[in-house]
Amino acid sequence: MNKLVKVCKLGDVAPGEMKPVDVAGVKDPIAVFNLDGTHYATSNICTHNIAMMTDGYFEGDVVECPLHGGSFSIKTGEPLSFPCEIPLRTYPVIVDGEDVLIETEVEQS
Ligand code: FES
Repeated sequence: MNKLVKVCKLGDVAPGEMKPVDVAGVKDPIAVFNLDGTHYATSNICTHNIAMMTDGYFEGDVVECPLHGGSFSIKTGEPLSFPCEIPLRTYPVIVDGEDVLIETEVEQS
């Protein structure tokens, strides 16, 4: 079942920065990006192997993996460079007042 879940406050991620977020009930670790004031969210796990994208580099609308240097669009999840071939999952982001929310499946507890 899809729900809107809060991942952070607007001020928690400054423009040009990214932040790892673990959300109760959501299996995927989430990466939240602030690109010129607009927030985006993706899975925080590289699709090539096991690496946290937020340990890598974020510039423009591209995040680069720290392990082998593959990269993805934070807007679409599209893989942009070798060795990444599988898209990174992206999540719809909604801003409600000061809260940043994503739409995703939530496990029932
Ligand atoms: S684990 Fe990310 S590029 Fe290899």
